[in-house]
Amino acid sequence: MSNIVTAFAPSNIALIKYWGKQDRYLKTPTFNSLSVTLKDLNTITEVSFSCCNQFILNNQEQDFKIIEDFVSLFNINDFIKIQTVNNFPTAAGLASSASGYCALGLALNQLSNLKLHKQQLSTFIRKGSGSACRSLFGPFVIWKKGNDDNSYSFLYPYYIPMKAIVVICDNNSKKISSREMMNIVQNDVDIYETWLNMTKQHYFSMLAAIKDQDFDSIGTIAIDNAHLMHNSVISIDSKLSYFNNKTLAVIDFTKFLRNKYRLFYTIDAGPNVVIFVTDKDFNKVLNEVKTLNLDYIVSSLSNGGYVFD
Ligand code: PMV
Repeated sequence: MSNIVTAFAPSNIALIKYWGKQDRYLKTPTFNSLSVTLKDLNTITEVSFSCCNQFILNNQEQDFKIIEDFVSLFNINDFIKIQTVNNFPTAAGLASSASGYCALGLALNQLSNLKLHKQQLSTFIRKGSGSACRSLFGPFVIWKKGNDDNSYSFLYPYYIPMKAIVVICDNNSKKISSREMMNIVQNDVDIYETWLNMTKQHYFSMLAAIKDQDFDSIGTIAIDNAHLMHNSVISIDSKLSYFNNKTLAVIDFTKFLRNKYRLFYTIDAGPNVVIFVTDKDFNKVLNEVKTLNLDYIVSSLSNGGYVFD
């Protein structure tokens, strides 16, 4: 049994969003979601046996209780020290919990000697943060609905040559977590039903568009699905909106660029806009984005998380 394990996990951004739970304890979703894994927004986590339980996130000691339930899934009976570093803003709608729980799950799987295969491990990681199970694979990943062991993630084996430009509209922690917000939306039966029915259509159209390498349709569906999710929030109360003025300006700017270049955008539960652009148009679009004078992160696509040898 090795005493120190280091794992890497990329973030992922959903093109078809996970937005609501079938079972709130097991974190099984009401429907399938589909994401793209982003290599350059990532977490590196080191776990080791220690004299006491410790959880250090971005060099700051945290309450171990935050991750205690998750750690207990791996049947580790000794004290452990967890040191984890995100290379991008934490809890700002950039899926830091996804890369975080994925890296921790990969490392604990190795430390505990459970040695679950990736699909099985995805059902454990899902219980930390639902969308985290998609960071195990890449670039296109499906997380399917199902009962506990059947709600796992897997690779959707197609490739589109594209990159992401994440435009930072606010890098502070979001006020309402996606977990809380999806519960709020799910409690409104009518609004939730609209979301679910439309998302099912988006999902199947997206599978076909990716399979056909139809970049324009992928973009249109992804934009529609992102706005569908954000509209579900705004329909409850416009004051709950995750968007700020910069978000709205970047959306307009990106829509305008769609007349000239092959690109689209999506937005998770936060204010930041993720622009996907074909490799061919990438340099020109990046030059355009620079004129916004906002911070941005460029990312290529990833094949998913792994443990270092
Ligand atoms: O995995 P959670 O509980 O952080 O929820 C993620 C929800 C969204 O990011 C908004 C959508 C998604 O599919 O990632």
